[in-house]
Amino acid sequence: MLRLGVNVDHVATLRQARRVEYPDPVEAALVAEAAGADGITVHLREDRRHIQERDVEELRRRLGIKLNLEMAVTDAMVAFALRVGPDDACLVPERREEVTTEGGLDVVRHAPRVRGAVERLTGAGIRVSLFVDPDAAQVRATAEAGASAVELHTGDYANAREPAAVAAELDRLRAAARSAARLGLEVHAGHGLTVANVGPVAAIPEVVELNIGHSIVGRAILAGMAAAVREMKDAVARARA
Ligand code: PXP
Repeated sequence: MLRLGVNVDHVATLRQARRVEYPDPVEAALVAEAAGADGITVHLREDRRHIQERDVEELRRRLGIKLNLEMAVTDAMVAFALRVGPDDACLVPERREEVTTEGGLDVVRHAPRVRGAVERLTGAGIRVSLFVDPDAAQVRATAEAGASAVELHTGDYANAREPAAVAAELDRLRAAARSAARLGLEVHAGHGLTVANVGPVAAIPEVVELNIGHSIVGRAILAGMAAAVREMKDAVARARA
Protein backbone atom coordinates (compact mmCIF):
# COMPACT_ATOMS: atom_id res chain seq x y z
CA MET A 1 0.00 0.00 0.00
CA LEU A 2 1.15 3.53 -0.75
CA ARG A 3 0.55 5.86 2.20
CA LEU A 4 -0.21 9.55 1.81
CA GLY A 5 1.16 11.93 4.41
CA VAL A 6 -0.45 15.36 4.17
CA ASN A 7 1.77 18.29 5.08
CA VAL A 8 -0.30 21.12 6.62
CA ASP A 9 2.55 23.66 7.05
CA HIS A 10 1.06 26.12 4.62
CA VAL A 11 -2.26 26.30 6.42
CA ALA A 12 -0.14 27.72 9.23
CA THR A 13 1.67 30.00 6.75
CA LEU A 14 -1.66 31.66 5.99
CA ARG A 15 -2.50 31.98 9.70
CA GLN A 16 0.91 33.45 10.54
CA ALA A 17 0.54 36.03 7.77
CA ARG A 18 -1.95 37.74 10.13
CA ARG A 19 -0.84 36.30 13.49
CA VAL A 20 -4.46 35.30 14.21
CA GLU A 21 -6.11 31.99 15.18
CA TYR A 22 -7.25 30.86 11.73
CA PRO A 23 -6.92 28.91 9.54
CA ASP A 24 -5.96 26.25 12.07
CA PRO A 25 -3.53 23.61 10.73
CA VAL A 26 -4.79 21.16 13.37
CA GLU A 27 -8.34 21.50 12.09
CA ALA A 28 -7.04 21.04 8.53
CA ALA A 29 -5.18 17.92 9.65
CA LEU A 30 -8.37 16.48 11.16
CA VAL A 31 -10.23 17.13 7.88
CA ALA A 32 -7.36 15.42 6.02
CA GLU A 33 -7.59 12.47 8.41
CA ALA A 34 -11.34 12.19 7.83
CA ALA A 35 -10.70 12.30 4.05
CA GLY A 36 -8.35 9.32 4.21
CA ALA A 37 -4.87 10.75 4.80
CA ASP A 38 -2.60 8.10 6.28
CA GLY A 39 -0.48 10.56 8.20
CA ILE A 40 0.09 14.24 8.89
CA THR A 41 3.46 15.88 8.36
CA VAL A 42 4.57 19.19 9.83
CA HIS A 43 7.90 20.99 9.76
CA LEU A 44 8.66 22.96 12.91
CA ARG A 45 11.20 25.38 11.47
CA GLU A 46 13.78 27.14 13.55
CA ASP A 47 12.29 30.54 12.62
CA ARG A 48 8.73 29.30 13.40
CA ARG A 49 7.51 30.87 10.16
CA HIS A 50 4.49 28.56 9.97
CA ILE A 51 4.02 25.65 12.38
CA GLN A 52 4.32 26.54 16.09
CA GLU A 53 5.23 24.23 18.96
CA ARG A 54 1.66 24.24 20.24
CA ASP A 55 0.42 23.00 16.82
CA VAL A 56 2.64 19.93 17.10
CA GLU A 57 1.53 19.32 20.70
CA GLU A 58 -2.13 19.65 19.70
CA LEU A 59 -1.65 17.30 16.72
CA ARG A 60 0.00 14.76 19.01
CA ARG A 61 -3.05 14.92 21.30
CA ARG A 62 -5.79 14.88 18.68
CA LEU A 63 -4.64 12.88 15.64
CA GLY A 64 -5.76 9.31 15.18
CA ILE A 65 -3.24 8.80 12.35
CA LYS A 66 0.52 8.94 12.29
CA LEU A 67 2.29 12.22 13.08
CA ASN A 68 5.53 12.82 11.17
CA LEU A 69 7.69 15.70 12.40
CA GLU A 70 10.12 17.20 9.92
CA MET A 71 13.00 18.71 11.81
CA ALA A 72 16.50 20.10 11.53
CA VAL A 73 19.36 18.12 13.07
CA THR A 74 19.84 20.32 16.14
CA ASP A 75 19.93 19.55 19.85
CA ALA A 76 16.94 21.86 20.44
CA MET A 77 14.80 20.05 17.84
CA VAL A 78 15.82 16.62 19.08
CA ALA A 79 14.86 17.68 22.62
CA PHE A 80 11.50 18.96 21.37
CA ALA A 81 10.84 15.71 19.46
CA LEU A 82 11.73 13.62 22.51
CA ARG A 83 9.29 15.66 24.61
CA VAL A 84 6.35 15.54 22.15
CA GLY A 85 6.96 12.03 20.78
CA PRO A 86 5.81 12.01 17.14
CA ASP A 87 5.44 8.57 15.55
CA ASP A 88 8.03 9.48 12.92
CA ALA A 89 10.69 12.13 12.48
CA CYS A 90 12.15 13.20 9.15
CA LEU A 91 15.52 14.92 9.42
CA VAL A 92 15.88 17.74 6.91
CA PRO A 93 18.48 20.42 6.21
CA GLU A 94 17.39 23.91 7.17
CA ARG A 95 18.62 27.35 6.24
CA ARG A 96 16.74 30.39 7.48
CA GLU A 97 16.88 32.24 4.17
CA GLU A 98 15.45 29.44 2.03
CA VAL A 99 11.85 29.58 0.81
CA THR A 100 11.45 25.85 1.25
CA THR A 101 13.70 22.85 1.84
CA GLU A 102 15.88 23.31 -1.21
CA GLY A 103 18.06 20.25 -1.22
CA GLY A 104 18.44 17.01 0.66
CA LEU A 105 20.36 16.52 3.87
CA ASP A 106 24.07 15.94 3.25
CA VAL A 107 24.29 12.77 5.33
CA VAL A 108 27.71 11.90 3.90
CA ARG A 109 29.20 15.15 5.20
CA HIS A 110 27.39 15.32 8.53
CA ALA A 111 27.43 11.60 9.33
CA PRO A 112 28.42 11.75 13.04
CA ARG A 113 25.87 14.47 13.91
CA VAL A 114 23.10 12.73 11.96
CA ARG A 115 23.92 9.35 13.50
CA GLY A 116 23.75 10.87 17.00
CA ALA A 117 20.29 12.36 16.34
CA VAL A 118 19.03 9.12 14.78
CA GLU A 119 20.21 7.16 17.84
CA ARG A 120 18.50 9.47 20.34
CA LEU A 121 15.22 9.56 18.43
CA THR A 122 15.18 5.84 17.67
CA GLY A 123 15.98 5.12 21.31
CA ALA A 124 12.74 6.92 22.22
CA GLY A 125 10.71 4.76 19.81
CA ILE A 126 10.50 7.37 17.02
CA ARG A 127 10.99 6.01 13.51
CA VAL A 128 13.49 8.17 11.67
CA SER A 129 13.75 8.97 7.98
CA LEU A 130 16.39 11.14 6.34
CA PHE A 131 15.40 13.51 3.53
CA VAL A 132 18.09 13.15 0.86
CA ASP A 133 18.63 13.77 -2.82
CA PRO A 134 18.22 10.64 -4.96
CA ASP A 135 21.91 9.87 -4.86
CA ALA A 136 23.53 6.48 -4.17
CA ALA A 137 26.11 7.82 -1.68
CA GLN A 138 23.46 9.67 0.34
CA VAL A 139 21.20 6.62 0.39
CA ARG A 140 24.10 4.44 1.59
CA ALA A 141 24.95 7.00 4.30
CA THR A 142 21.29 7.00 5.38
CA ALA A 143 21.42 3.26 6.01
CA GLU A 144 24.78 3.59 7.78
CA ALA A 145 23.34 6.32 10.04
CA GLY A 146 20.81 3.80 11.36
CA ALA A 147 17.66 5.40 9.92
CA SER A 148 14.75 3.11 9.18
CA ALA A 149 13.61 5.06 6.13
CA VAL A 150 14.83 7.40 3.45
CA GLU A 151 12.69 10.18 1.99
CA LEU A 152 13.80 10.90 -1.56
CA HIS A 153 13.70 14.57 -2.52
CA THR A 154 11.49 14.87 -5.60
CA GLY A 155 12.09 18.61 -6.08
CA ASP A 156 14.40 18.27 -9.08
CA TYR A 157 11.90 15.91 -10.72
CA ALA A 158 9.05 18.34 -10.01
CA ASN A 159 11.02 21.28 -11.40
CA ALA A 160 12.18 19.50 -14.58
CA ARG A 161 10.36 20.71 -17.70
CA GLU A 162 11.98 19.13 -20.77
CA PRO A 163 10.82 15.51 -21.29
CA ALA A 164 14.43 14.28 -21.33
CA ALA A 165 15.14 16.01 -18.03
CA VAL A 166 11.94 14.61 -16.48
CA ALA A 167 12.92 11.12 -17.63
CA ALA A 168 16.46 11.53 -16.24
CA GLU A 169 15.13 12.68 -12.85
CA LEU A 170 12.72 9.75 -12.75
CA ASP A 171 15.58 7.38 -13.49
CA ARG A 172 17.54 8.86 -10.57
CA LEU A 173 14.54 8.38 -8.27
CA ARG A 174 14.00 4.80 -9.43
CA ALA A 175 17.67 3.89 -8.98
CA ALA A 176 17.82 5.49 -5.53
CA ALA A 177 14.61 3.74 -4.48
CA ARG A 178 16.01 0.38 -5.62
CA SER A 179 19.28 0.79 -3.76
CA ALA A 180 17.49 2.03 -0.62
CA ALA A 181 15.20 -0.98 -0.59
CA ARG A 182 18.20 -3.30 -1.11
CA LEU A 183 19.80 -1.73 1.98
CA GLY A 184 16.66 -2.49 3.98
CA LEU A 185 15.38 1.10 4.11
CA GLU A 186 11.71 1.96 3.79
CA VAL A 187 11.37 4.35 0.85
CA HIS A 188 9.39 7.61 1.08
CA ALA A 189 9.32 10.49 -1.39
CA GLY A 190 8.16 14.07 -1.46
CA HIS A 191 8.54 17.73 -2.36
CA GLY A 192 6.83 19.58 -5.18
CA LEU A 193 4.45 16.73 -6.01
CA THR A 194 1.11 17.63 -7.57
CA VAL A 195 -1.88 15.75 -8.96
CA ALA A 196 -0.30 16.28 -12.40
CA ASN A 197 3.19 14.92 -11.65
CA VAL A 198 2.65 12.38 -8.84
CA GLY A 199 1.82 9.41 -11.08
CA PRO A 200 5.31 8.26 -12.14
CA VAL A 201 6.63 8.62 -8.56
CA ALA A 202 3.66 6.74 -7.12
CA ALA A 203 4.37 3.99 -9.64
CA ILE A 204 7.88 3.31 -8.29
CA PRO A 205 7.30 -0.04 -6.59
CA GLU A 206 9.70 0.52 -3.66
CA VAL A 207 8.02 3.78 -2.60
CA VAL A 208 5.62 3.17 0.30
CA GLU A 209 4.92 6.74 1.45
CA LEU A 210 4.49 10.12 -0.21
CA ASN A 211 4.50 13.39 1.74
CA ILE A 212 2.68 16.17 -0.06
CA GLY A 213 1.74 19.62 1.19
CA HIS A 214 1.90 22.76 -0.91
CA SER A 215 -0.18 21.54 -3.86
CA ILE A 216 -2.88 20.08 -1.58
CA VAL A 217 -3.19 23.25 0.49
CA GLY A 218 -3.20 25.37 -2.68
CA ARG A 219 -5.92 23.21 -4.21
CA ALA A 220 -7.93 23.29 -0.96
CA ILE A 221 -8.09 27.08 -1.16
CA LEU A 222 -9.52 27.03 -4.67
CA ALA A 223 -11.82 24.07 -4.00
CA GLY A 224 -13.18 25.84 -0.92
CA MET A 225 -13.46 29.38 -2.34
CA ALA A 226 -17.08 29.11 -3.54
CA ALA A 227 -18.30 27.78 -0.18
CA ALA A 228 -16.39 30.48 1.71
CA VAL A 229 -17.90 33.26 -0.44
CA ARG A 230 -21.40 31.81 -0.04
CA GLU A 231 -20.97 31.68 3.76
CA MET A 232 -19.93 35.33 3.83
CA LYS A 233 -22.79 36.41 1.54
CA ASP A 234 -25.21 34.58 3.85
CA ALA A 235 -23.72 36.23 6.95
CA VAL A 236 -24.01 39.66 5.35
CA ALA A 237 -27.57 38.99 4.17
CA ARG A 238 -28.64 37.79 7.64
CA ALA A 239 -27.52 41.13 9.10
CA ARG A 240 -29.94 42.92 6.74
CA ALA A 241 -32.86 40.48 7.05
N1 PXP B 1 8.88 16.09 2.43
C1 PXP B 1 9.78 16.90 3.02
C2 PXP B 1 10.91 16.28 3.76
C3 PXP B 1 9.63 18.31 2.97
O1 PXP B 1 10.55 19.11 3.57
C4 PXP B 1 8.50 18.84 2.34
C5 PXP B 1 8.28 20.33 2.36
O2 PXP B 1 8.06 20.75 3.68
C6 PXP B 1 7.58 17.96 1.76
C7 PXP B 1 7.81 16.59 1.78
C8 PXP B 1 6.34 18.45 1.08
O3 PXP B 1 6.66 19.25 -0.01
P1 PXP B 1 5.51 20.08 -0.75
O4 PXP B 1 4.97 21.06 0.24
O5 PXP B 1 6.23 20.71 -1.89
O6 PXP B 1 4.47 19.09 -1.18
